[in-house]
Amino acid sequence: MINYEKEYQNSRNVCGEPFPEIVEFFENYDDECATVLDSGCGQGRDALFIARKGHSVLGVDTAQTGIEQMLEEAESENLAVDGVIADITNYEAPDLYNIVVIDSVLHMLQNDEIRNAVLEKSSNAVCKAGFILIADTPKHKSLICDYFKSVPKVWKIIKNEKNFFFAHKIALVKS
Ligand SMILES: C[S@@+](CC[C@H](N)C(=O)[O-])C[C@H]1O[C@@H](n2cnc3c(N)ncnc32)[C@H](O)[C@@H]1O
Repeated sequence: MINYEKEYQNSRNVCGEPFPEIVEFFENYDDECATVLDSGCGQGRDALFIARKGHSVLGVDTAQTGIEQMLEEAESENLAVDGVIADITNYEAPDLYNIVVIDSVLHMLQNDEIRNAVLEKSSNAVCKAGFILIADTPKHKSLICDYFKSVPKVWKIIKNEKNFFFAHKIALVKS
C-alpha cells in the first residue's frame, strides 16, 4: 500500500489534476457557496478546485503533510478550505454537507466492512437534496452500488460508470 504521507513529502502534486468527471459535476452545479466534505482529501486536488468555484470545503485525511500543503495553498489564494488530520473510518463530520466527495480512497481501506461503514457515515453526512461523489478503482464498484441500491428511496444514482459513482440524496430517511 502506498504511503501517501511520504509521497506528499516528496512531491506537491501526487494525484495530478481533478478527474474530468468531478470537474464536469461542478461545472454544472448551479448552487453558489455549497458546503463540501472531502473525505481523504490528500493534498487537496479536489478541495482546492472546488473552493476556487466559490464553495467551502472541509478536507479530512490521515496524512498531515497533505493537509498542511492543502491549507498553505488555500491560504495563499484566500480560499474557504479547512482541514482536519483524522481517520475517516472514525471521524464524525461536524455538520451536514451539500456534497461529500470520496476520491480514490475507498480502495485503501482495510476491508469491505470498513468500506461499508465509511459509505454509511459519508452518506449520513449529506444533507437532503445533496450529492455524494465517489471515484475509485472498479474493484469495489459492486460494493458501492449495492450500498446505495439498498436504500433506493434515499438515493437516486446519477452516474454509474467504471470508476465513478455519483448519487443524489432525494430523501433523508430510509422508510
Ligand atoms: C490516492 S490518495 C487520494 C487523495 C485525494 N482524494 C485525491 O483524489 O487527490 C488517497 C488518500 O486517502 C487517504 N486515506 C487513506 N485511508 C484513509 C483514512 N482511513 N482516513 C483518512 N484518509 C485516508 C490517504 O492518506 C491519501 O491521502
